Amino acid sequence: MPPRIRIAESYEAMSAAAAEAVARRLAARPSLRMLLPTGHTPLGMYRRLVEITRHEGLRWDRAQVFLLDEYLGLGPEDPGSFRRYMAEHLLRHLNPAPAVDSLNGRAADPGSECARYEQALAAAGLDLVVLGIGRNGHIGFNEPGSPFTSRTRVVTLTADTRRANAPDFGGDPEAVPPQALTVGIATILEGKEIFVLAAGAAKAPAVERAIQGPLDPAVPASALQRHPRVTWFLDREAAAGLDPELVPAGVGGGGSGAWPGSEGRNRGGAGRD
Ligand code: PGA
Repeated sequence: MPPRIRIAESYEAMSAAAAEAVARRLAARPSLRMLLPTGHTPLGMYRRLVEITRHEGLRWDRAQVFLLDEYLGLGPEDPGSFRRYMAEHLLRHLNPAPAVDSLNGRAADPGSECARYEQALAAAGLDLVVLGIGRNGHIGFNEPGSPFTSRTRVVTLTADTRRANAPDFGGDPEAVPPQALTVGIATILEGKEIFVLAAGAAKAPAVERAIQGPLDPAVPASALQRHPRVTWFLDREAAAGLDPELVPAGVGGGGSGAWPGSEGRNRGGAGRD
């Protein structure tokens, strides 16, 4: 089934649209089980979610938050860890807090830690998965070549990913941990609904290949074509490579837009249906 595609005029509008969609899911289902990403792209979404939580009294105390990935060797107190990022940008602003689980990058046995996490995700049952996409088409740390059947596991990062994430480690790609733990592609696809966020021209080729290209493990995000309920939140630059027939000019809602429970309209300046 084609995905829904929502194109916003700016990064801020894209972030607001994604945050409002997450907030609506949480308001409709206070026990929402969600898998959330880190990275630069979702920062605006988290800022807006914190504002919505404050202003609209959104409650998180029955929800459960899982993190998508973590660097191998980094613990919650390490400045570069994703657990620390999430504490800083989202979790410390939520009171009362949701239950939180994440992959422990410092586990003595990373393989067992991945198996534990896979079981925890299966037991919870993910209602919503939110993802970014790498310039190389990765989702989570499922780098090009990751099988679509992959589960939560230890992976080796590509040079491109370490370069992209170097700003978080003083600008030095060599300082970025070479390995990580990530939720797998098959695990991601088990979520009931998936949101993907992308902004900026550097992401346009990956977005185009993920949505319009063939199903190809060389583009891990193309696996999302197998999922019946995906919404892409894009700014204009990230959407630049998409077929105008899929996304008619000036129209924010592309694809079928017809899956059950779809939001009938766009909000927050995120384009028009
Ligand atoms: P970014 O990362 O948001 O920092 O670009 C996205 C990703 O690599 O998944």
